[in-house]
Amino acid sequence: MQEDVVRRGRLSGERDLEIKQFLSSMDADRNIADADLLVDIAHLLMLKRQNIVDQENAVTIMRVLLGMKEAGVPEEAFSEHFEDIHAGIESVLIEAAGEEAGGRLHIGRSRNDEVATCIRLHLRDEIIELLDSLVNLRKVLLTCAEQHHKSLMPGFTHFQHAQPTTLAHHLLAYEQAFSRDFDRLNEAYARVNRSPLGAAAFASTGYRIDRDYTATLLGFDAIILNTMDAVATRDFALETLSDLSIMMATLSRLCEELVLWSSPFIGFICLDDPFCSTSSIMPQKKNPDTAEIMRAKAGSVTGAYTAALIITKGLPMSYNRDLQELTPHLWRGTRDSIMSLHLLSGMLLSARFDTARMKAEVGRGFSTATDLADLLVREYQLPFRTAHSIVGRAIRNGTLDKKALDAASSEITGKTLTERGLTTEQMTTALSVEGSVAMRDHPGGPAPSATAQSIALARVKLNMDHHNAGSKKLAIRRAIETMLTEAGRLAQ
Ligand code: ARG
Repeated sequence: MQEDVVRRGRLSGERDLEIKQFLSSMDADRNIADADLLVDIAHLLMLKRQNIVDQENAVTIMRVLLGMKEAGVPEEAFSEHFEDIHAGIESVLIEAAGEEAGGRLHIGRSRNDEVATCIRLHLRDEIIELLDSLVNLRKVLLTCAEQHHKSLMPGFTHFQHAQPTTLAHHLLAYEQAFSRDFDRLNEAYARVNRSPLGAAAFASTGYRIDRDYTATLLGFDAIILNTMDAVATRDFALETLSDLSIMMATLSRLCEELVLWSSPFIGFICLDDPFCSTSSIMPQKKNPDTAEIMRAKAGSVTGAYTAALIITKGLPMSYNRDLQELTPHLWRGTRDSIMSLHLLSGMLLSARFDTARMKAEVGRGFSTATDLADLLVREYQLPFRTAHSIVGRAIRNGTLDKKALDAASSEITGKTLTERGLTTEQMTTALSVEGSVAMRDHPGGPAPSATAQSIALARVKLNMDHHNAGSKKLAIRRAIETMLTEAGRLAQ
């Protein structure tokens, strides 16, 4: 068993496994082990460049670090005897390189700036994956919308038939929401991709370190200036989780609709078998379990956000061990979100929309009553409120034919609509669902010409967003490659 190099000086007494496990962050640290090696490599290159560690020791350390990079962090570094992966990797390093060399890597830093740097490194990868997944989901929504410009369906408010719309219009509403989720995460990224390294415990260090150099090596856009802030804050994680909670709330609304729509009560959609489960007792059942779990994930992600937020509440400056308890919530939030986005894309792409069922429902519930009221305003100069009352009264009396309208009109205004000049043909046109949708051709409206325009605009932004996520990925990859080349040169 490797010695824990962090504890051995100050503390005595072997600890019970119970205490070790309670204090350990090892499980969650599996997410940041690779990042920790990158941080070690950057820090060592800096120590060497600043002549804080000499050539010979630097070479010895770098060889071990690159060996681990090549072969993967060895399993013994994850031993439950270490408090965390930082202690684990350092202990393995010292074992392999000897203390004379290996014992110098931790010069001018602390686990406090180390862990904050690791979390940011891994989180930026997670955000890029989220951005990519959002781009993909939006692409699927746009593809589906494109096929359904003319697929009439009822639009709802209060989950009551409200006005006719199209499936394209409905799907585009979600695409717009996910596009804003992209923007929010993209903005969060700018605050995540900053380097806390060099802050050490919180007060920086007396060694002549170079914070900008390690930041550049690791592909960060800048450093977190105040060194106390650098180790103490997790606001970047809270911001990401908050953005994800908002995104998952939208996603759960869509899942709720998939659940409702796939019920025979509604029957607007048929989900592909792989996304469904059956019952252990009722052999006829096909249940939309994936959409249900996904709807619930919104609760889990928001729970992760809430837990993380409350963990930071009331913590005095600067680092407190409480912060360790926050990190697993962050990874739960990002993982659940990424998986949900992936599966939702697949679920939508493979679903079959029953446009005939949608059409059968579109005219129900007097869904074009607004158009009839609008006709009375346009053609017969009635105030909208009067027209609204006439149509509403006819419906209250049970029907929307000309006779009922006349009766309602004379009740309310003392004059029938026929007397005002209303014809049956005008009425029929106003009540047509196709006509209702076609008239609504304003920007963002449901008319096929408007949804075509919306899709064109959405595609322009989607391409830009796709490019944006790609250049983030490229910038990081280039920085890390450059750093590893430099590290390799040193180790030769
Ligand atoms: N495992 C710790 C965490 O996740 C690393 C930092 C430990 N720092 C300390 N002062 N004990 O926060």
